[in-house]
Amino acid sequence: MCGIVGYIGHQKACPILIDGLLKLEYRGYDSAGVSTIENNYISNMKDMGRVKNLYNLDGINDLEGSIGIAHTRWATHGKPSKENSHPHMDNSNTFSVVHNGIIENYQELRSFLTSNGYTFKSATDTEVIPNLVHYYFNKDVNNDNKKFLRAVHSACMDLKGSYAIEIICSEFPDCMIVARKDSPLVIGVGEKEKFISSDIPAILSFTKNFYLLNDGDIVQLHTDSIYFYDKNLTPISKDLKNIEWDASAAEKDGYEDYMLKEIYEQPRSVRETIGSTIKAGSLVNFSEINISKEYLSNINNIYIVACGTAMYAGLSAKSLIENLCKLPVCIDIASEFRYRNPIIDEKTLCIYVTQSGETADTIAALKLAKSKGAKTLAISNVIGSSITREADYTIYTHAGPEIAVASTKAFTAQVTLLSVLAIYFAEILGSASNERINTLKTEILSLPSKIEQILELSEEVKSFAHKVYTEHDIFFLGRGTDYAVSMEGSLKLKEISYIHSEAYAAGELKHGPIALIENGITVIGIITSPNLVEKTVSNIQEVITRGAKTFIITSEDIENHNYDKVIKIPKTDSMLSPILSVIPLQLFAYYISKEKGLDVDKPRNLAKSVTVE
Ligand code: F6R
Repeated sequence: MCGIVGYIGHQKACPILIDGLLKLEYRGYDSAGVSTIENNYISNMKDMGRVKNLYNLDGINDLEGSIGIAHTRWATHGKPSKENSHPHMDNSNTFSVVHNGIIENYQELRSFLTSNGYTFKSATDTEVIPNLVHYYFNKDVNNDNKKFLRAVHSACMDLKGSYAIEIICSEFPDCMIVARKDSPLVIGVGEKEKFISSDIPAILSFTKNFYLLNDGDIVQLHTDSIYFYDKNLTPISKDLKNIEWDASAAEKDGYEDYMLKEIYEQPRSVRETIGSTIKAGSLVNFSEINISKEYLSNINNIYIVACGTAMYAGLSAKSLIENLCKLPVCIDIASEFRYRNPIIDEKTLCIYVTQSGETADTIAALKLAKSKGAKTLAISNVIGSSITREADYTIYTHAGPEIAVASTKAFTAQVTLLSVLAIYFAEILGSASNERINTLKTEILSLPSKIEQILELSEEVKSFAHKVYTEHDIFFLGRGTDYAVSMEGSLKLKEISYIHSEAYAAGELKHGPIALIENGITVIGIITSPNLVEKTVSNIQEVITRGAKTFIITSEDIENHNYDKVIKIPKTDSMLSPILSVIPLQLFAYYISKEKGLDVDKPRNLAKSVTVE
């Protein structure tokens, strides 16, 4: 996830662009840049680091142009560096582009452009866009005032994936083209000026009047005119909307808190994490790593090591990896692993899961495994983070920056990526049938739309949270992957509601925890594994008999045996179900915290990144 800003009007563009970027830093902050046009020349200034560093760039204050584009980056392809920062220009320096999103077929497009004589300076997916626009611009023999628009449209037709783009052209110095597909983009309208941004907050101080773009829209902007087109370049009209948000609500996209915004971002973050790894008719593709059959066939076991939510993501994926790869998978807490002399050697593959990539215990645990000769694979959400510099292999979740301390979208992205990784390993090893693999791939691709369906049930979760927010103890029960997700649900609740909570494997109930169940206690049951339904249902009956209030999250057609609330979620393969069943648990923790009037995004005593032991 990145932030983009654009301006075309009668004022100096650069200060407006930087002001907008500063307000978009929550979307990314590893590098930033601006391009403006003056006297038919595009100046392009960019560097690694936070947006405020732009003020230190030589000559930036001399940029007088009144048309410009700008970007604050959260790296997805290519580490944070000056070369990989946006804006990116084509080889002839005629076009400059900023982009938010992921171009899935950029390697194909890069090869096509390379064979047509184009060269590339960066490792980004974005750099294909200005060159592709240049390619079509040069091929077009009509020199009318729509030539720039046609070239951008033709380039967009070739792009697969998601994008919000702004493009300027030195041969059309009073025009900007913007387009979007699956990435947000809005246009603010002032008096003879237009402000463009990936989010309303960046430009809310300049105008309250906005056009909201839809997927496939492409727009030609001038100081005093604006032309909208659909994906076929047919002219369309749009209504101007008046937005009365205050600046703080706007930064959260209108959500009350970052956590809620991040919960609702999950259809997109899961979709972007799957990205181009799964394609119909092809093997899973992780272009970043190249693990050989020879290496994998010699592995005896896999360790997944992490802390907190990331560790529960590993636990949620354990069964699928074991089931597909026929290899034992141990899950370990990084702070335990690093001090207990684990039995690992060159026949162990150690996977480290970390959103931030900076967690001290996880990094130390990785170094330990390396010192024992094991190969290490990091899964991180932050390109270039410390752990990625230590690991033998790295793959990335594409959840975008997670601001709320309680992790939500990182968890679902991590379980998704581990599931795709399990298929990747199984395809290399030949350890699972094609039929099983194809079913799983189809299921994984359908997860984003199933998450959308679950998010529509939020009012039901909220109404149950309202009934139980004054409780002192809440228990979670589940079996198999439902047990893993119970632990994550319980952690979420503790973190942001300060309610004491425990998660138990439902079969363990009789071995002790049932002694805690008394009249009025709340028990949350997760039931998604068809072969375990009866078992968990009877455990829940045992707590109901002892007076518990019950909240059931299930994908199965279970009879209502006096449950207080049942949330029915869509079915998926039970080994993928944590990616769906965790959503109501995240919402439950969120609404309880809100009912208690707590600071959801910044819970007491917790930090987002734990860089010390
Ligand atoms: C819980 C949470 C923490 C983190 C843990 C690991 O909501 O956010 O438990 O999951 O501190 O952090 P990363 O993934 O950055 O290593």
